[in-house]
Amino acid sequence: MRHLLLNTLIKQNVYRLGCNRYSTLQEPKEPIVKSKAIPGPKSLELKDKLDAVQSTGTIQLFADYEKSAGNYICDVDGNVLLDVYTQISSVPLGYNHPRLINVFKDEKNLKTLINRPALGVFPGKEWPEKLHSILMNIAPKGLNKITTMMCGSCSNENAYKSIFIWYQNKVRGTAAFTEQEKCSCMINQAPGSPQLSILSFKGAFHGRTLGALSTTHSKYIHKMDIPSFDWPVASFPQYKYPLDENVAENKKEDQKCLSEVEDLIEQYTKKSNPVAGVAIEPIQSEGGDNEASPEFFRGLQSICKKRGVALLIDEVQTGGGGTGKFWCHEHFNFEQPPDVVTFSKKLQLGGYFHNDDFVPNEPYRIFNTWMGDPGKVLLLEEIIKVIQEEKLLANVNETGKVLKDGLLNLEKEFPNILNSTRGRGTFLAINCTNTNVRDRIITALRHTGVQTGGCGDISIRFRPALVFKKYHANIVLDRFRTVLKSL
Ligand SMILES: Cc1ncc(COP(=O)(O)O)c(C=O)c1O
Repeated sequence: MRHLLLNTLIKQNVYRLGCNRYSTLQEPKEPIVKSKAIPGPKSLELKDKLDAVQSTGTIQLFADYEKSAGNYICDVDGNVLLDVYTQISSVPLGYNHPRLINVFKDEKNLKTLINRPALGVFPGKEWPEKLHSILMNIAPKGLNKITTMMCGSCSNENAYKSIFIWYQNKVRGTAAFTEQEKCSCMINQAPGSPQLSILSFKGAFHGRTLGALSTTHSKYIHKMDIPSFDWPVASFPQYKYPLDENVAENKKEDQKCLSEVEDLIEQYTKKSNPVAGVAIEPIQSEGGDNEASPEFFRGLQSICKKRGVALLIDEVQTGGGGTGKFWCHEHFNFEQPPDVVTFSKKLQLGGYFHNDDFVPNEPYRIFNTWMGDPGKVLLLEEIIKVIQEEKLLANVNETGKVLKDGLLNLEKEFPNILNSTRGRGTFLAINCTNTNVRDRIITALRHTGVQTGGCGDISIRFRPALVFKKYHANIVLDRFRTVLKSL
């Protein structure tokens, strides 16, 4: 009977937040903070238990995902926090969205979820249609191929491999692999394992797996003790804010960084370690929400085209609508599509879009067991429908304006604490005087019921779900003001 009731409520899309899992889930009017500190006692107890078998140094709290709803995340101590961090920018529709819960009420979909295939070998009969109708439907303009993967790091990792294969195909032409190439690659030697590089930028974050890590430069702790490739690292523009008052200076900064890219490409060609690809985030996220202008990105693309280097745009964090466009690089008005666009997070599975040139010419060159997850694609299908039906990109732009204007006002009100509000849509950040002040603000915000995140050394980042509304933004701004006054 109770199950019947739940099914009916879910079918009617009625969902209200509550302790009883059979009641409907609804967002509270405002955050609820019950424990004296967060993490509270129950979170700490669970942390101890987990600590016995797994490292817990990064854990902020233990969530109760049964009770979390919409923009609010519940923890095991009864705190209900307005979540503007959303699992490091990974929750497009908030928690327990009824449309997503419905997906697995359909037994056909449930079977897709539980019979997870090795997609490269035994894909299900629905897979080609799903890729065409769901993933190619959101493909960046001009890219007609996709390689599905697992997470952000492994998407970049495999995309780099695709770039190297593409580069060597150009060098080799139509000739077959030589015997020498076949033997030498087996012992990590040239010519089979050639010296090739990926150029990345200071402050970048492209993941923590072994190859991707050579292009990550946001924090030493990610890299310490891990061997790295000798790959070039260029300066990313560092702008003066507000942007409209520092146009000439920031333009010079763009030029300086672009010249450095050209110099490095030249330098690495000369030392026989040519640059095959450039990897860049549309907004450097982990590294501190550093933006670069559309002119910078177009200049970078033109250098890449001139030098025969592939341009990879890493949209792992920016992709999926948070910047007010589905792909952040749509803001740049590129003359031609980028060569490779990687994604993960809000899109549920990982992967990269590309064109025919980046399809390996032989099987098993880009491959792993899962190569994505059809269950996640079912969720993505529903997410995209909701984004379109509920015009969530327009919502992001409207709410983003409220949040950004509010942050700019706070910056004026507290000039000794805050500066450099920036970002697009609701993908926003603000700088604090120093790391200590930033960390104190994030902790204090959490204790007033607002979950934000830090990035870089001194920035607070905002990564709400696409269903974050103006009234949510006003709650965040009110609580932020209270915290700033208390400092
Ligand atoms: C821009 C970017 N690239 C790659 C990654 C790595 O993704 P994952 O943590 O899923 O491996 C991240 C993660 O935050 C990211 O922000």
